[in-house]
Amino acid sequence: MMMYRSRMGKNLDEITLSYVSSISDDAEIIFYDIVGSQAHSIMLYENKIITKTEVSKILHALEKLKKEKFEKKSDFEDIHELIESLVIKSAGLVSGGKMHTARSRNDQVSLDIRMKIRDDINTLCQCLLDTIEALVSLAQAHQKTVMPLYTHLQPAQVGVFSHYLLAYADALFRDVDRLYVTYGRVNENPLGAGPIGGTSIPIDRQSTAKMLGFHGIVENSIDATSTRDFVAEYVAAVAILMTNLSRISEDFAIWSTSEFSFIELSDEFTSPSSVMPQKKNPDILELTRGKTAQVIGHLTSILSTIKGLPSGYNRDLQQIKSSIWSTSKISISALLVIKLMLMTITINKEKMKKSTESSYLIALDLAEKLVQKGIPFRTAHKVIGQLVQIASISKKPLSKITPSEVKTSVKGTNVDSKFLLKLINSTTIDSSLRDRTSQGSSGILEQKRMIVDRMKKIKMYREGTTKRENQVKTTFENLSKKVKLLIK
Ligand code: ARG
Repeated sequence: MMMYRSRMGKNLDEITLSYVSSISDDAEIIFYDIVGSQAHSIMLYENKIITKTEVSKILHALEKLKKEKFEKKSDFEDIHELIESLVIKSAGLVSGGKMHTARSRNDQVSLDIRMKIRDDINTLCQCLLDTIEALVSLAQAHQKTVMPLYTHLQPAQVGVFSHYLLAYADALFRDVDRLYVTYGRVNENPLGAGPIGGTSIPIDRQSTAKMLGFHGIVENSIDATSTRDFVAEYVAAVAILMTNLSRISEDFAIWSTSEFSFIELSDEFTSPSSVMPQKKNPDILELTRGKTAQVIGHLTSILSTIKGLPSGYNRDLQQIKSSIWSTSKISISALLVIKLMLMTITINKEKMKKSTESSYLIALDLAEKLVQKGIPFRTAHKVIGQLVQIASISKKPLSKITPSEVKTSVKGTNVDSKFLLKLINSTTIDSSLRDRTSQGSSGILEQKRMIVDRMKKIKMYREGTTKRENQVKTTFENLSKKVKLLIK
């Protein structure tokens, strides 16, 4: 196929061509390149830059390309060149040769990436909301499933399983929100910036922006063609999201060990060892940790690429595309898999309860009860500390402590030992969860309230995201209608 770009010297030889070509990475933006070119051509026609016949021929050729199967290998440097060549081949040079009027591949590639990320953000938001919904639904079923809460991986306070699940949900809500806000900065049109400085041809940048569903333009043409900060922002948001998934995975991996046995992953999410028949390895959790590292790598590579580039388009920018696609692919699949894992997990309530009972987790509750009777927290802390030490030396629970042992523990303080003994007998795991009323705590009422609240929040973000998806869909439908009318 003939190349329609004048170049110095002869055609690039094969090795050089494959070195400079982005054709294989461009598979992900073919659709966006086609619709972008359609909107651009319509704008050229509407501003009397090309004729009705010309636009009609261009649009017809582009429309046909929507169904074309593009090969990964081609003699072209990138999808923009290839599509233009195919349009010229089909529409003729007189018409097709006008498609690239008043634009450059520099504004074009940025346009395509923006439309791709825009769609990926919507998909990710929906996937995130699905995963959050799975977490909150599981929390709903485990509001009263007691388990220890850990700090330093040591048992710290009496808690419930739902509290952890809701904590994950809240972290993922922040990820939704980050992406949701990033969308606004991605959804701006760079097209019409030309190679860097704009054009003398009387184009209308607002009109292409509107036809492609952007809420505005990246005004400064140098900025529009140079910047990839929107890419960095997107990948950074996803990298943070992945670190959240990775941390959740780590918790679940620990809890699924035979030492903890709090949870059991369903068989399809584990793999047996090739040698040790008793093993059930939590591979998907480990892979989520591993894939997180990959996404962090993508972010690092993108930031390193853009940090020292001179303003204006530079070919280095071509290399970041595969990092974007991989980031989207990894995170979308991670969310789908984690959601399915949550929906099929088995919770060992008995084991969780036993662990809660066997640690001295009500210690803080006892100290706080003394505080409520006017004892300084430091004194209460010391007394209960002594009590726990006595109990642990003779390896018994606090409920088995004797009146004389209580007396020993209050020595040197004004705490009444009889009162303390009464407190010990009346303080249980249940009372601990009943009395914990501070906002956001493990308390039973707080769990219930947060579950209802988070369900509402899912609905809110869902509506916003669905609205955006519909806007994009309607935009392309309207463009399609326009194209059909002009082709006729
Ligand atoms: N293939 C290029 C990329 O992906 C498109 C822009 C090329 N522009 C240029 N002046 N060489 O970034």
